[in-house]
Amino acid sequence: MGINYLITGANRGIGLALTAEVLRNKEKVISLCRESSDSDELVSLQNANPSLVELCKADVTDEKDLINASKNIEHLDVLVCNAGIMGARGGMTDKDNDHNGISDVLMTNVAGPFFTIRAFLNKIKRSENPKIIIISSQMGSQKHSGGESYFYRASKAAINNIMITFSNELRRSEIPIVSVHPGWVRTEMGGSFATLSTQESARSLYKFIQKIDMTKSGHFYNYDGNKLDL
Ligand SMILES: NC(=O)c1ccc[n+]([C@@H]2O[C@H](COP(=O)([O-])OP(=O)(O)OC[C@H]3O[C@@H](n4cnc5c(N)ncnc54)[C@H](OP(=O)(O)O)[C@@H]3O)[C@@H](O)[C@H]2O)c1
Repeated sequence: MGINYLITGANRGIGLALTAEVLRNKEKVISLCRESSDSDELVSLQNANPSLVELCKADVTDEKDLINASKNIEHLDVLVCNAGIMGARGGMTDKDNDHNGISDVLMTNVAGPFFTIRAFLNKIKRSENPKIIIISSQMGSQKHSGGESYFYRASKAAINNIMITFSNELRRSEIPIVSVHPGWVRTEMGGSFATLSTQESARSLYKFIQKIDMTKSGHFYNYDGNKLDL
């Protein structure tokens, strides 16, 4: 049986490029998005590789949605929790730092990966070589000094912390879990001045994913595989 990936937020940005990279390596991918049909690129990838791509619709903030999606999946080896949002970037007075804005960032970036992992865990437990990757950000590191994105930074620090708690609980099942900074990438979130293309980020992430094992579990890495400070 080939290796099966599941990538959340696969309709654009880093998730779409990682989907293309998995396909370039002739492996199977389940592309999970809120609205896959909105993405011409993802639909063309599926049309070109009908036996390798499965589209799966779910919102990562809705655990019932994720559980329903998981019912159609037999087998999973690599789970990549990539979906994320930025929220307010404008410092403490940014008007989007209100109840709804803060809830959206925390529900998507913290609860989202948590719900996704819980929903698909039974499938990944069937794998002989399971791996879970959370796409985090160096902005979540306590050592990172820049940025005025209060709740984005807090959400990535929180998901790194949750990754460690998962790693403790999943150690006995021998499922490695890591969080990874994908680089500063030219996407809707990263903006046009970012240093990496989505393809460059995805190629490095894919290479690093191949090297993940239990010795790496519970740590935070750069896209090139170097360890980062939490
Ligand atoms: N770009 C960078 O420089 C950079 C740097 C560090 C970390 N990251 C992290 O990398 C990941 C991907 O970012 P990106 O740059 O590719 O951003 P992006 O281009 O804005 O794409 C974000 C993706 O997440 C999906 N998403 C958001 N909320 C969702 C939800 N509730 N349910 C399902 N999917 C949802 C979006 O789907 P819709 O189209 O439906 O909104 C989209 O597919 C994020 O976790 C981000 O924090 C990015």
